[in-house]
Amino acid sequence: MENNKFYITTPIYYPSGNFHVGTCYCTIVADVIARYNRLIGKDVFFLTGTDEHGQKIENKAKDAGVTPKEYVDKIVANSKELWKILGISYDRFIRTTDEDHEKCVQKIMQKLLDSGDIYKSEYEGKYCTPCESFFTESQLVDGKCPDCGREVSLVKEESYFFKLSKYEDRLKEFFKENPDFLIPETRKNEMFASFLDKGLEDLCITRTTFRWGIEVPFDPKHIVYVWVDALSNYISALGYLSDDDSLFRKFWPADLHLVGKEITRFHTIIWPALLMALDLPLPKRVFGHGWLVVGGKKISKSFGNYKDPREYLKYSSVDSLRYYLLKEITLGLDGNFDEEMYIQKINSDLANDYGNLVSRTIAMAEKYFSGVLSRKAYENELNTDSDNELLKKITENIAEYKINNDNQRPDVALDKLMEIVSFANKYIDLNEPWVLAKDESKKERLAKVIYILAETIRIVTVMLKPYMIETPKKVFEQLGTDIDTWDSIFEFGKIKDGTVCKKGENVFPRIDSKAVLEEIKKAEEEVKKEESSNLEGIKYISLDDLDKVELKVGQILEVSKIEGAKKLYKLNVDLGKEKRQIVSGLVPYYTEEELLNKKVIVVTNLKPAVLCKTESYGMILAAGDKENVKLITVDGEMENGEGVH
Ligand code: ME8
Ligand code: MG
Repeated sequence: MENNKFYITTPIYYPSGNFHVGTCYCTIVADVIARYNRLIGKDVFFLTGTDEHGQKIENKAKDAGVTPKEYVDKIVANSKELWKILGISYDRFIRTTDEDHEKCVQKIMQKLLDSGDIYKSEYEGKYCTPCESFFTESQLVDGKCPDCGREVSLVKEESYFFKLSKYEDRLKEFFKENPDFLIPETRKNEMFASFLDKGLEDLCITRTTFRWGIEVPFDPKHIVYVWVDALSNYISALGYLSDDDSLFRKFWPADLHLVGKEITRFHTIIWPALLMALDLPLPKRVFGHGWLVVGGKKISKSFGNYKDPREYLKYSSVDSLRYYLLKEITLGLDGNFDEEMYIQKINSDLANDYGNLVSRTIAMAEKYFSGVLSRKAYENELNTDSDNELLKKITENIAEYKINNDNQRPDVALDKLMEIVSFANKYIDLNEPWVLAKDESKKERLAKVIYILAETIRIVTVMLKPYMIETPKKVFEQLGTDIDTWDSIFEFGKIKDGTVCKKGENVFPRIDSKAVLEEIKKAEEEVKKEESSNLEGIKYISLDDLDKVELKVGQILEVSKIEGAKKLYKLNVDLGKEKRQIVSGLVPYYTEEELLNKKVIVVTNLKPAVLCKTESYGMILAAGDKENVKLITVDGEMENGEGVH
C-alpha cells in the first residue's frame, strides 16, 4: 500500500485578486497530474489553497479600507469559483487562516523552540514586502530585490531566528544523495550557486511590526514569518500534530510539490531544513516550473495582455484551455500563451484531429450499421497490416504516455496520445470505409474497421481523462460505453458486441479565428480607451505653476539628530553660493553616515518653518511612503547650487 498513495500540492496563493492564466497554470498542471494518478489507481491527496497572512495583505486591506479577513474572504470566494470552472479537483482547499492550520503552526513553533532550533535575537536587514522575503546586503541586486527588482525596505526589530545554518551540510548531502529531489536540473544548479555554496545564514522567522499573522505561542507580541506559516500548510492540511493525524501518517512525505521557479528556494532549502528540525521525512520531489508570458510579453495590465482566464472561455472550452497549457508549454520552461496560436491549436488538434475522428467514426457507424458496433466482426476477420500497425502504435504509445506522465512531462504524454489520433485518422484514409461499403462481401471487414476505430477512440479518450473534464463524458456517451478504466486500455477489444453508438454534439467545434480575433482586438481597444479617459481626472498644472517651485542641487555637509525628535535630522546643506539648515524626517530610513556628502534636490523657496524648535529653510525631496523612503539624487557629476528643471 505504501507506494500506492500520491500526495501532490500547489503553492498556496497570495489572495491578490489578480487571477490570470499564469497564476492558474500551476494549479491546472497539478490537477492534471492528480487526475492522472487517480486514473492509474493511486490514492491521491491533492492540496491547494491560499496564503493569507503577512504585511502585504495587511497593507492591501488597509488600502481597501477593510479588515484583512474581509479582504481575503472575498478573494478566496472568487478563486474557489474559478477553480470550479477550471475543473480543479482538489481534496482540500487550505486557508492559512483556518483554525486547524493556525494551531498546527503554533505547535510547530513550540516544537522548534523545544528542540533548540529557535533563538531570540535582533534582526537588521532588508525586506521585500511583495515577495515577503528577507535579503542580506550581498544578495541584493543594485540594492533592489533580486527576485522582483523592486525596492526593499530596512527592517530592524527583535526577532526569533531559525538555525538554518545548522542544516547546511545535511542539505547539501541530501541534494547529492537524491538527484531527483529537485527538477529540472537547472534549478538545482541555481540553488547551489546562489545559496548553498555561499553558505546559509540563520533565518528570521518572526515579526513584531505588524499584526496580521499567527501569534508565536511563547511570545505573543511576535507573529510567525509568513513563509514559515505558508510552508507548514503542506503538513497542517494533513492534521500533523493534531488529534487526528491519520491523513498525515498516510500521505506524508509529499510525492510532489509543484511550485513556480521563483519560490523554489523556499521549498528546497528552508522547507527541508524545517522538516529536518521537526525530524520528519523530506518530500520526494519539488518541481520548479517556469513562467507564462502572454503574446510574448510579461502578463501585466499595462501591456493589455492581462485577462481573467474566464475571458478565453467565452469562445473556447475549459478542456481546450487545459489541453493547450499542458501540450504547448513544456513544464519547467517559460512558455508563451498566445490567443491566435491557441485558437489555431484548438482548430488543428482538437477540432480537426480528435473531434473529427470521433464524429467521422460515429457517423459511419450510424450510416452503415445503425450505430451498432460488432465485436464479433473484430474477432472473426483476420487482422490486416494496417490493423496490426495501429494496434502496435497504441500499445507502444500507452507505455510512453505513462512514463512521461510519471516523470512530469505531460506535454510529451499528450504528444503520444495525439499520435494515436493521427494514426487512426490515417487508418481511415487507408481503409477507405466508403469504398468497402459499396461491396456487400466486404461488410464484415467494414464492421471490423469501424469497431477498431471506436475502440481506438475509447482508449485515447481514457488517456484524455486527466487532461479534460467534459469531453470524455460526452464521447463515452456517444460511444455508448462506460468502460473507461485505466486497466481497460491494455486490452484491445473491450467494447461489447452490439454496443450502439450515437452521434451527439460536436465536441470541438471549429472556432472562427478571424471573427474571434477581431472581437478580442475590439475589447482591448475599449480597455485602452477607458484607461486614457481615466487620465482626464488628473489636475494639470501649467509651466508657470511649475516655475513657482525653485529646485536646486545641494550636498549634505553635516548631519545631526535633534533632541526629542525621533525621526528628524538637522542637516547643513551646501547650495553652492550659500549653506542652509534644513530639517528632514529621514532617521528611520538613513543613517548619518549614509547621508553625509549625498547630493540631493532641495526646494529652496519653501516658506521657512520651525520643527522641534529647530529652524528649517527648505525641503529635501524623497520618493516613497512610510514603508520605504529614498532620496532623489542626481545621476552623475553636478555642481552644488545648479538649478533643477
Ligand atoms: O509565491 N506564470 O504566492 P503567489 C506561471 N504565497 N506561474 C505564475 C505566474 C506566471 N505568469 N505568476 C504567478 C506565493 N505564478 C506564495 C507561495 S507556498 C507555501 C507559498 C505562480 O500568489 C508562482 O510562480 O505569489 C507561484 O508558484 C504561484 O503562482 C503562486 O504565487
Ligand atoms: Mg509571487
